[in-house]
Amino acid sequence: MTMSSPTLAFLGTGNLATAIVKGLLAQQAYRPSDLTCTSQHGVTAQKLALATGISFEPDLPRLLAMADTVVVAFKPQSLAGADPRLAELTAGKLIISVLAGKKLDRLAQFFPQARNIVRTMPNTPAAIGAAITPYCSLRSLTAVDQAIVTKILGALGQHLPLAEEYMDAVTVVSGSGPAFLFEFVAALRDGGITAGLPPAVAEKLALETVLGAAKLLAHTGTTPEILRDQVVSPNGTTFAGLQAMTKGQFRATIQEAVLAGARRAAELSRA
Ligand SMILES: NC(=O)c1ccc[n+]([C@@H]2O[C@H](COP(=O)([O-])OP(=O)(O)OC[C@H]3O[C@@H](n4cnc5c(N)ncnc54)[C@H](OP(=O)(O)O)[C@@H]3O)[C@@H](O)[C@H]2O)c1
Repeated sequence: MTMSSPTLAFLGTGNLATAIVKGLLAQQAYRPSDLTCTSQHGVTAQKLALATGISFEPDLPRLLAMADTVVVAFKPQSLAGADPRLAELTAGKLIISVLAGKKLDRLAQFFPQARNIVRTMPNTPAAIGAAITPYCSLRSLTAVDQAIVTKILGALGQHLPLAEEYMDAVTVVSGSGPAFLFEFVAALRDGGITAGLPPAVAEKLALETVLGAAKLLAHTGTTPEILRDQVVSPNGTTFAGLQAMTKGQFRATIQEAVLAGARRAAELSRA
């Protein structure tokens, strides 16, 4: 049996890169011998290589020599200090960046000879293959590169091509969105405790209710407003609760949270 050379290289091997590698191998989209990786200090890369059977290559020229596609998966703040040899070594390669807030034109300064650059914005459910990942590219993707992007982002969950102008809003809606939802679950749990439930019961009810409601929404394909109205009877308990939410300006508060996050994303992507 002949061993193939790694065609997909990972620069950075933290939480997200680990989720991608594990997803790709679980889906048999790539074999371990197709994947190679490095990290700043080598420890996380060696750990990932040991856990999954992919190769660890600390030497940058050797890492990138055979690679066709490079997943850039370090922290956004590491970009400025990244190895300057990357500019030459990534010539002709497809770059897939998961760096939050780093624009295509900024990425193009670091990878000027890449055949194309894809900017993505995964969210934390990526860790269990349940992400939604909007992405955009510097130039139109060829059919071959589109297939590569689909395969790699598919390891994290769903993916959605979108114009770059939407990326700041995306960063807060789907990027920060899980945190907003966790905050809602915590509030529902705390409300349950205040209403007299034992904490463990309130926690389970809050989680399972959000999970079940989200599944119902996805399953029915209808709007949240229609499903909400199906729970409301005139002057009933849900009605009373929703009235309290309106009085507390729930929708306006969430809208302001999204706008504040989008403003911050715009500031950060200019940095
Ligand atoms: N986690 C998510 O769900 C999520 C969601 C959206 C976007 N992202 C994006 O994903 C990226 C990675 O996040 P993470 O949570 O996976 O980070 P992380 O767990 O902190 O891992 C960062 C990795 O980058 C490596 N690294 C740092 N500088 C490097 C360099 N110059 N060259 C090569 N490797 C370098 C680190 O190496 P050492 O371990 O050797 O120091 C480590 O393996 C970020 O850009 C973030 O914006 C993550």
